Amino acid sequence: MKDLQLITLTVNGTEHELVVESRRTLADVLRHDLGYTGTHLGCEHGICGACTVLIDGSPARACLTFGVQADGCSISTVEGLASDGELSDLQRAFSERHALQCGFCTPGFLMLAEAYLAEYPNPSTEEVREVVAANLCRCTGYQGIVEAISDVARSRRESR
Ligand code: FES
Ligand code: FES
Repeated sequence: MKDLQLITLTVNGTEHELVVESRRTLADVLRHDLGYTGTHLGCEHGICGACTVLIDGSPARACLTFGVQADGCSISTVEGLASDGELSDLQRAFSERHALQCGFCTPGFLMLAEAYLAEYPNPSTEEVREVVAANLCRCTGYQGIVEAISDVARSRRESR
């Protein structure tokens, strides 16, 4: 018999109540049960970071988190970054700096960068390099990603 549980997730501000199997990952809940397919699955082993989402503001590997562990939490996914059809500053910077090629890793990098800049608004280039090392990109060589995040850190500082 399946072990089912009723959980509540608030995803990008919208509350969802659903019944899930206890062993179902948060990535599968988001993608398959709720339709937030911007959260990508690469390795499914916690290595690549493509599945990074924010749980109550902190970055987490959705492939290593059970949906039931996120019961009652606020989840932010890449779908929540743009508002009213306008890309966020980070999304625009990734585009301008050519920080993506195939784009498979991009949602994870964007969510990682959002959480990082919220906590560390004044990073050095070296610190940005260390942070993005948490996620894998097979295409870009990382330079554009580092430049995009550094650009946004600078422009957010200047606009404060
Ligand atoms: S799919 Fe989760 S870390 Fe790779
Ligand atoms: S842009 Fe292709 S894996 Fe990063």
